[in-house]
Amino acid sequence: MKNLTDPFGRRVTYLRLSLTDRCDLRCFYCMAEKMQFLPRKDLLTLEELGQVADAFIARGVRKIRLTGGEPLVRKDFMNVINHLSAHLDAGRLDEIALTTNATQLARFAGPLKDAGVARVNVSLDSLDPHAFNRITRGGNITQVLDGIDAALDVGLKLKINTVALKNDNADDIPEMIEWAHGKGMDLSLIEVMPLGETGEDRFDQYIPLTEIRDKLEQKWALTDTPETTGGPSRYVDIKETGRRLGFISPLSHNFCASCNRVRVTCTGQLFMCLGQDDNADLRAALRGPDGVAALDPILDEAIGRKPEKHEFEIDRRRSAPAVARHMSVTGG
Ligand code: GTP
Ligand code: 5AD
Ligand code: SF4
Repeated sequence: MKNLTDPFGRRVTYLRLSLTDRCDLRCFYCMAEKMQFLPRKDLLTLEELGQVADAFIARGVRKIRLTGGEPLVRKDFMNVINHLSAHLDAGRLDEIALTTNATQLARFAGPLKDAGVARVNVSLDSLDPHAFNRITRGGNITQVLDGIDAALDVGLKLKINTVALKNDNADDIPEMIEWAHGKGMDLSLIEVMPLGETGEDRFDQYIPLTEIRDKLEQKWALTDTPETTGGPSRYVDIKETGRRLGFISPLSHNFCASCNRVRVTCTGQLFMCLGQDDNADLRAALRGPDGVAALDPILDEAIGRKPEKHEFEIDRRRSAPAVARHMSVTGG
């Protein structure tokens, strides 16, 4: 069957599939304090999630990352992993990856590794217990650190994702890099993106990564590398720590020209871009008279509308977020 190629000649080989909009943390730049989560019946069932994955794999998707919300809080999420695992074994998929806050990772590290999950990206914005608790509005850092250690123990490859927050962690970033690199983990820094209302002012949180980089360069020798995982991170090598640091800078550096990914939400909406509203309803197709057979033409039609780039901006004049849905809906 034909590969999925968009009007700008970009091949879609990477699917980010969200298992749930729920999360056991409430990071203040991501969610509102009181979130209204989706009713159960709106979510794709575990079987439907598998069917969506199958349809993309048949069209040339080689990497699937499970996201959320927090994917590990979806009941029986291992069923989806095991389903994907069969594709991995048959050579139809190169990689199953996962993005998690690691609160439940201590329990699931072993089963994930056994199912062939290669890489796990852990979202962690501070090592300081108080700052962590404040940023996540109630989280316990010990749970997360235990999760990380358990994952390293079973041999999972970990990357830490840290959102740079002007007043909450900007000064602690060198310490986090040393910690991650000391444990053999890469770390990527992320700029806050204007996604969804959180009840807080993103302008107050936003710090361009160019500023952080300038500070790091006063301390360490950074060398740009051409390395890429096909993702938005641009990497530098840090001589002193001996590992690489990624910069994900959608606002100060647009990386859309090499975009290879699309996203499916836990309700089956296919978003062609994280930073745009246009989407296609895969759930309606799946639950309609033609079932799975209805997916294929929708994929073609939707990829044919993949936009060239996002239109994020954060400034004082514009108070509403660029995109109304939260990151926990689209899955990062
Ligand atoms: P690997 O390259 O496989 O390690 O993963 P990744 O960087 O694609 O995935 P990860 O979940 O680590 O993504 C980190 C963060 O980068 C996401 O949570 C988003 O904040 C941001 N990001 C990822 N993909 C995109 C994208 O297509 N557009 C924008 N604007 N941001 C993205
Ligand atoms: N801007 C940037 N990153 C965000 N994340 C959640 N919301 C935002 C936002 N508005 C990050 C999380 C996690 C990943 C899934 O997305 O911290 O690393
Ligand atoms: Fe792709 Fe949109 Fe992300 Fe740009 S913002 S990299 S087009 S998903």
